[in-house]
Amino acid sequence: MKTLFAKEDRYNIKTYAKVPIAVERGQGSWLYTQDQKAYLDMYGGHAVAGTGHCHPEVVEALKEQLERLIFYSNSVYLSVRAEAAQALIEKTDGLMAQLFFVNSGSEANENAIKLTRKITGRSIVISFTGGFHGRTYAAASATGIEKYRRLITPLVADHIVAPFGDLHEVERLLAAGNVAAVILEPIQSMAGIRDFGAEFLRELSLMCRKYQSYLIFDEVQTGVGRVGGFFYATKHGLEPDMITMGKAIASGVPMGALLLSEKIGAHISSGDLGSTFGGGPLAAAAASATVQVIEKQRLLLKVQEGSQKLKQALQQLCFVEEVRGEGYLLGIKVHGTAADYQKRLFARQILVGTSDDPSVLRLLPPLTLTDEEIDHFLAVCKEL
Ligand SMILES: Cc1ncc(COP(=O)(O)O)c(C=O)c1O
Repeated sequence: MKTLFAKEDRYNIKTYAKVPIAVERGQGSWLYTQDQKAYLDMYGGHAVAGTGHCHPEVVEALKEQLERLIFYSNSVYLSVRAEAAQALIEKTDGLMAQLFFVNSGSEANENAIKLTRKITGRSIVISFTGGFHGRTYAAASATGIEKYRRLITPLVADHIVAPFGDLHEVERLLAAGNVAAVILEPIQSMAGIRDFGAEFLRELSLMCRKYQSYLIFDEVQTGVGRVGGFFYATKHGLEPDMITMGKAIASGVPMGALLLSEKIGAHISSGDLGSTFGGGPLAAAAASATVQVIEKQRLLLKVQEGSQKLKQALQQLCFVEEVRGEGYLLGIKVHGTAADYQKRLFARQILVGTSDDPSVLRLLPPLTLTDEEIDHFLAVCKEL
């Protein structure tokens, strides 16, 4: 194992704080290491393993697609791509009409920002403190966490970060008439699971409409069922103009997507967007299989039930100050430091995440998490 750590660190740029395990394979909510240990993955492979690790139906869809065609770009028609797009659009309950496939959450946000600027002819993009939108230039310029913004100076021009939840400030900015878009995570994950609340978002949506600015929901984490609805927007009856997706969309095959309302789609001309690998057959096959698994296994309902059970039990524990979030996007605010509790859980073979808030642990488990796995996690937490 030591040789593997040394080899990876020798040839990969060392820019990640890594958990010191060598993962050999994954199944469901579990990771199995080279030294034959099993870890319960309550971090869901960084919120990516929505259907769990190596869900058999996703694996089967990928195998079939691998044998048929590994890749062709958007310059030809592919039924596998058409089916994935239809499956995702249908999950928006009529809110969105079309989508554009990309390879990551950052790329989805880059394109969303770029499009709103082009369509409106305006340049200002408003985001919020605590929001995380990715590491590429526009996405990082919209990010409201200082340590990421510092890395990319000079920032892309005309990004304004408003204080979290400050509707008055947003209206003051919108009233200037030069705002292309407002972008936000409906529940800020990296910031430590901070929820704007559906009422705030409803008012913001009306405000954006009034000043003819677009509203972009970054659902890279909240999407694909994580909040117990397929999207945060549809769960809460909200109407953003665009939704961006990534993470769990294709169960771990790199993919992102930009979903657009009919009104926006009408403004896009041929050649406005492009991406060689976006909507490639493997990712598309995995995305369709992901939607099917979520439907077939009634995972949205399971997430709602599991989330309630986790919240109720965790709130009783003496080291827990507060549990926040929705579905399987949960933040545990602890007395003390989150990193300390993360280490203690790791010692008991459970992986959880920390956040930008040093007192908040994040749980982003697979939507397939079983009742027994929840019981096991809670039993371990009780012993901490
Ligand atoms: C809410 C949100 N938006 C965007 C991104 C960027 O996605 P990616 O890392 O796939 O570019 C992330 C990644 O963590 C995210 O959590």
